[in-house]
Amino acid sequence: MKITVLGAAGGIGQALALLLKTQLPANSELALYDIAPVTPGVAVDLSHIPTAVKVTGFSGENAKPALQGADIVLISAGVARKPGMDRSDLFNINAGIVRNLIEQVAAVCPKACIGIITNPVNTTVAIAAEVLKKAGVYDKNKLFGVTTLDIIRSNTFVAALKGKQPQDMNVAVIGGHSGVTILPLLSQIPGVSFTESEIESLTKRIQNAGTEVVEAKAGGGSATLSMGQAAARFGLSLVRALQGEKDVVECAYVEGDGKYARFFAQPLLLGKNGIEARKDIGNLSAFEQNALDSMLDVLHKDIELGEKFIQG
Ligand SMILES: NC(=O)c1ccc[n+]([C@@H]2O[C@H](COP(=O)([O-])OP(=O)(O)OC[C@H]3O[C@@H](n4cnc5c(N)ncnc54)[C@H](O)[C@@H]3O)[C@@H](O)[C@H]2O)c1
Repeated sequence: MKITVLGAAGGIGQALALLLKTQLPANSELALYDIAPVTPGVAVDLSHIPTAVKVTGFSGENAKPALQGADIVLISAGVARKPGMDRSDLFNINAGIVRNLIEQVAAVCPKACIGIITNPVNTTVAIAAEVLKKAGVYDKNKLFGVTTLDIIRSNTFVAALKGKQPQDMNVAVIGGHSGVTILPLLSQIPGVSFTESEIESLTKRIQNAGTEVVEAKAGGGSATLSMGQAAARFGLSLVRALQGEKDVVECAYVEGDGKYARFFAQPLLLGKNGIEARKDIGNLSAFEQNALDSMLDVLHKDIELGEKFIQG
């Protein structure tokens, strides 16, 4: 199994690379690429950790050497938020970066599963889909917007509020990955119930958790370590599923049946070829149904922005 990380010298990229180096199955390969010249050095640094995972590092304008033979490509290349910015402010820079990198993925490893971390995810995934389509290699079962951070944040916050073990929680989060489009399904957590005001404040906290980090870092960037953990969880789940493990389920933002929006985050059964099945989102509470209905305008606009960026 070969995993390539694009943007590997950044805050998320380095945390993710460390977790993959220590947790990928033996005899896997980890390729790191970033425009930053330090990247081969990051690979040398990691290579001293005694696990049977081969690490290589590449820098410069050309991502192709890192992409040769990749089964999974995780992309965190791009700029991160500063205080006062929301994720859509990143569009102008990150849209072009994602287009460029996906063009290289399409040319070198068109059958790889691709996880997009670069924000605004609601839009960058649509950009990636259109680029892959143009190249004639789009497989909607292999393109994911990584929303796992919303799940792990929900697990942490719910456990803290309800006196549970965070590692025992697995909250489903649907919709998209920004503001009101992030919808944790708190009504579906087994054995846990909330008051109306708890649901309202917890939902808001989960939706704004990224901003909580951006403000706390005071200009030093956005979530990197928790995101590294989230991306590693998602990447390792994909590895297990691609290798044939059954019952691997993760939420991610993918192209589905279009019932709510062309791209929509929902629980997915992963398998040997990427998404094996899109799972139903189940019964929603009145609060959740209302939140779902009112996010759709934003989500549709975010998606259209990405489609238009490629289609012109
Ligand atoms: N999906 C999520 O839940 C989530 C959470 C947090 C952050 N993010 C996003 O992830 C991205 C990265 O965040 P970060 O904190 O690691 O930022 P960072 O600035 O620390 O790292 C970004 C890296 O991308 C590299 N880069 C820039 N242009 C590149 C290109 N064309 N090719 C290859 N590499 C390139 C930079 O050199 C840098 O090393 C941001 O867009 C951020 O908004 C997503």
